[in-house]
Amino acid sequence: MDIKLTIDGKEIEVPQGTMLLDACRKAGADIPTFCYDPDLKLAGSCRMCVVQPKGWRNLVASCVTPAQNGMVIETESPDVIEARKVILELMLARHKLTCHTCEKDGECRLQDYCYRYGVTESRFAGKVHNLFKDESNPFIERDYDKCIMCTRCVRACEEITGARAINVMERGYHAHIATAFDGELADSPCVFCGQCIMVCQ
Ligand code: SF4
Ligand code: SF4
Ligand code: FES
Repeated sequence: MDIKLTIDGKEIEVPQGTMLLDACRKAGADIPTFCYDPDLKLAGSCRMCVVQPKGWRNLVASCVTPAQNGMVIETESPDVIEARKVILELMLARHKLTCHTCEKDGECRLQDYCYRYGVTESRFAGKVHNLFKDESNPFIERDYDKCIMCTRCVRACEEITGARAINVMERGYHAHIATAFDGELADSPCVFCGQCIMVCQ
């Protein structure tokens, strides 16, 4: 059964069970995402994809919120823009801003979205981790000060490769992606398939 909703003034029909993100994209809206990957289980953790349903108290993460019949959605309202700016600034607060020497320069979502929303610096005091950089093998270098904790690598490792070599360790500011006991990849179940790198942004 199809349902009808209005997105940025455009009425569309989608099958029941469709997530708002897909409905918004069907309506032509350009919704930014970090943790979402169509080939992986939903995490709903970064909240970059928030949109504003009319009459609702809160913004909702569109990638994990099913579309409902009669919804009226705004995808770039002032509240949505402000929420996305805060998310970007929180990320920048612990991100090493060495874009000019970064290999991902020019193909980085964080960079793209900061440009799109005019975010050049962070209001939030933070410090980069300066954790160790794992360069113990020729295939994968891990630089924690570049990670935005989207967990796509963890899900790819588990769901695509089935290796479960990496996971989120600790919570809050100290949260980071690591092997068991924070060891080197070479000492973990990692098979160096490269799936984690493919999904890293
Ligand atoms: S390279 Fe290692 S850590 Fe990365 S997805 Fe493959 S098995 Fe997992
Ligand atoms: S290493 Fe990359 S894919 Fe993994 S959480 Fe960090 S930014 Fe996301
Ligand atoms: S992309 Fe929707 S919560 Fe991360």
